[in-house]
Amino acid sequence: MIMDDARDPNYRPSKMAKRPPKCRICDAGLHTVLDLGRQPRADAFRSPDDSTPEYMFDLQLGLCESCGAVQLVDEVPAELMFNASYPFRTSTSQRMQRHFRDTAMSLLKSEVHTHTKPFMVEFGCNDGTFLTPLAEAGVAHLGVDPAANLVAEAVSRGINAQSGWFNADTASSILSAHRSATVIYAANTLCHISDLASVFVGVDVLLAKDGCFVFEDPYLGDIVEIGAFDQIYDEHIHYFTATSIDVIARKHGLALIDAQPLDTHGGQLRYTVARPHQKRTKAVEALLETERRMELHSRARLGHFASVVESRREELTSTLEALSNDGKRIAGYAATAKSATVLNYCGIDSALLSVIYDTTPEKHGRLAPGTGIPIEPFPTSVDDYPDIFLLLAWNHAREIAAREPEFAARGGMWLQYIPGVKLTKDPVA
Ligand code: TYD
Repeated sequence: MIMDDARDPNYRPSKMAKRPPKCRICDAGLHTVLDLGRQPRADAFRSPDDSTPEYMFDLQLGLCESCGAVQLVDEVPAELMFNASYPFRTSTSQRMQRHFRDTAMSLLKSEVHTHTKPFMVEFGCNDGTFLTPLAEAGVAHLGVDPAANLVAEAVSRGINAQSGWFNADTASSILSAHRSATVIYAANTLCHISDLASVFVGVDVLLAKDGCFVFEDPYLGDIVEIGAFDQIYDEHIHYFTATSIDVIARKHGLALIDAQPLDTHGGQLRYTVARPHQKRTKAVEALLETERRMELHSRARLGHFASVVESRREELTSTLEALSNDGKRIAGYAATAKSATVLNYCGIDSALLSVIYDTTPEKHGRLAPGTGIPIEPFPTSVDDYPDIFLLLAWNHAREIAAREPEFAARGGMWLQYIPGVKLTKDPVA
């Protein structure tokens, strides 16, 4: 068991004794509402030969009661997380590939009605999955991403992309080299950026007068509803709601005009921000009202979420221990970034979970951050699968269940922990 974490009764988060944390949006004080203990960088898959001390930080969720923003208290420097060795690839999931193709094509369809010369910019473009259909359709586009490895890959496939961070300077240089953007798009990126003001100023600089800034990120309402505490890790600095996005947008002369629920990554929202003269949909009004009714931005609601997370940990660890004592062989399904949070918070190491299988070649032969669980490619034969898979990529359950019919057919079981701890034959049921 890992002892340097919140399960250790002597554990005290080091940052709590330091300066009181401030809201990144409005500078008011932050209240710590959930403490997930000492955690590594979620995507720092280490080589077994690496004997340097592992980077660890206090993973805590903070609430700003003044503007409603929910965010990490402490943060890892961005350069440590998003650089030329960033291992996440959007294209890994076929469902996500389809999702981004459909999103690109539907945005383009509405663009064709609105603008004669669309120019679509994506920041956090990763390996170019979203931009590919636009490039194929001959639409003017540009991707921006700090992960130079992924940008090079996108460029080699004919996508216009450049490496870097999206901010006011980048926006000005794109504007001078090209023209104003009719759509600015970002998926699973905005919540990664500590200084949101730098992005919103950039959007204001680059966005055409009647353009739209469309972005998708995990939704705090869903995280709280299903107790998806593993969505909380170093890269996810912000946990947005319609309320908090409208506050930030208005600070920058923009407004939230639409918000649509998505079932991707376990529950997200697609936010559309535009200049305030554009009409706001009824969906936004309804969502703002729901969030008020749920008291989503209150210490009481988030305190309840924290108690659900604590009992989830107790239930998951006792279930794993019982199964292991029963002689079951248990392996992790997918070395997701999210898995770092659940494994470290629950103190699950290689004594309980002998291996995590994953499809990403860069992760093979490496160790899971914090826990040191080895990561390997999936066995080529189902005969070599374990008795039980801990479903670490629960957000892709449908796709995974469809890919693994033989596992279930030969009696394999899935151990889920979102939305509750459950041992099941069918992770979609
Ligand atoms: P994902 O949940 O998309 O993201 P995150 O890492 O941000 O939590 O998981 C991506 C990881 O899961 C990646 O390492 C590839 C792996 N994976 C598999 O090994 N098999 C699969 O079927 C899927 C969908 C993902």
